[in-house]
Amino acid sequence: MFSWKQPQTRPIIVAHRGASAVAPENTLAAFSRAIDAGADAIELDVRLTRDGEIVVFHDSHLQRTTNGRGKVEEHSLADLRRLSAGAWFHRSFSSEMIPTLEEVLELLRGRTGLNIEIKTIPLRRNRIGIVERCSSMIQQYHAESYVLVSSFHHQHVNLTKRILPVVMTGILIHPLKHIGRSAFQAAHKEKADFIILGGGALRKNVVGKAHERRLEVGEFTVNTRRRFERALRYNVDAIFTDDPGRMIRLRSEMK
Ligand code: G3P
Ligand code: MG
Repeated sequence: MFSWKQPQTRPIIVAHRGASAVAPENTLAAFSRAIDAGADAIELDVRLTRDGEIVVFHDSHLQRTTNGRGKVEEHSLADLRRLSAGAWFHRSFSSEMIPTLEEVLELLRGRTGLNIEIKTIPLRRNRIGIVERCSSMIQQYHAESYVLVSSFHHQHVNLTKRILPVVMTGILIHPLKHIGRSAFQAAHKEKADFIILGGGALRKNVVGKAHERRLEVGEFTVNTRRRFERALRYNVDAIFTDDPGRMIRLRSEMK
């Protein structure tokens, strides 16, 4: 079983929103294809519904990737389940629904690692809700070793570590929001294990300094040979890619 603490190979190849180059992002179809491609882990985004369920969805609004409108958090799970989350990508995926986190944990059962990225904004109303719910689901599925919890909202990361100290966590570095703040200071403050950043912000010395501080580094989104080779040269620990099959082939070519 995959373990974020002791992966068998590096860089860890993480399927970004599933195998989102070949199937609609954040659907069971994309996750199944990522498993078939041999991805080490799958990254997905989670949000709360109006009735407090955890769904797998990237945007705050439904328009781009479903046939619905409005905000995810303003709809009940039952309403959301009536939408197609795949037709926008290709008609052959029309029957894909917005998955719940529980469905994905059922599908994976530890066959690959999982990175749960918490998107919900930590407002007073739901701040405790989403982290506590994710944490109890991780416990229910005995998924502590193969789940990594991450967020651009660093207080979610801090709270996860307080509830489940054994679970690995990562802070996401936003190029605009976190500019001028030291990623290392933030990681230390939130007790995170990973810093995860976009390729535009990545420098070799950042990786070196992170490793000196026993921090691991993840880079998104790595979809080309050039970017993959750079990640190898820089000793990046995990890459997030829309095309895990291609990156797995590149990694085995280069060993
Ligand atoms: O976790 C890496 C990446 O998923 C963060 O950006 O917008 O694709 O969720 P985004
Ligand atoms: Mg994400």
